Amino acid sequence: MDLLQLYEQEFEHKSQKIQQKIEEIELDYLKEDVPESIQSMKEGTKRIIEISKSMRIFSRADTIAKVPFNIHDGLDSTLLILKHRLKANKKRPEIKVVKNYGYLLEINCYPGQINQVFINLISNAIDALDESNSGKTFTDIKAAPNQITITTEIDSEKQQAIIKIGDNGMGISEEFKDKIFGHLFTTKAVGKGTGLGLSISRKIIEEKHGGKIICNSELGTGTEFVISLPL
Ligand SMILES: Nc1ncnc2c1ncn2[C@@H]1O[C@H](COP(=O)(O)OP(=O)(O)OP(=O)(O)O)[C@@H](O)[C@H]1O
Ligand SMILES: [Mg+2]
Repeated sequence: MDLLQLYEQEFEHKSQKIQQKIEEIELDYLKEDVPESIQSMKEGTKRIIEISKSMRIFSRADTIAKVPFNIHDGLDSTLLILKHRLKANKKRPEIKVVKNYGYLLEINCYPGQINQVFINLISNAIDALDESNSGKTFTDIKAAPNQITITTEIDSEKQQAIIKIGDNGMGISEEFKDKIFGHLFTTKAVGKGTGLGLSISRKIIEEKHGGKIICNSELGTGTEFVISLPL
């Protein structure tokens, strides 16, 4: 058993113990007005268990050879891992995630690498949405919500799986459009972006999987990345 598995077991064991404890406390204090804080503790532990599950999917995903992998599982565990960044905060309501999942067969790939691409693209979308919010109030954003749209489909003619990740963030200016996949290219502040996400993603999709990744973007409207992978 490796260190990660040990750590996971410990983590789950602790979470379960916390949950048991909460249930005991709940019995004692049920009549008083603490149910709200108990509820939030319960949600907290549920979330720990969820993250631990996603981490497991991610850690098991590093394979030496290509294996059949359900792309939707990869997208869903990425969304779970990034949930803390998607949820509401003081500045904005929750980012809406719209999933238009089509019928995708399992795809032969390196799942760990594909998940890394999803993390890069979805993190970039969240960054773009947060940037597009600057100068807007909570109410403004609520009226025109931040949204990430994930679409999957099969192009049976070309024998390809298509995965689209779009956002209604600030978009990319013409000047930068052909630079964004460049090694170390970033428009983000020092310490916020290293400019590696997209260049790594392109390597993974195109060199390791024989696929293609392109970007469609309109300044002020939003951005969409389209990945195609051979079936
Ligand atoms: N969804 C998007 N909307 C607008 N701009 C984007 C989007 N995705 C990427 N970009 C632009 O492309 C640049 C490069 O992205 P990339 O992911 O390679 O690096 P980064 O996000 O700046 O840093 P890192 O990913 O290494 O933390 C970003 O700095 C940003 O200007
Ligand atoms: Mg990035």
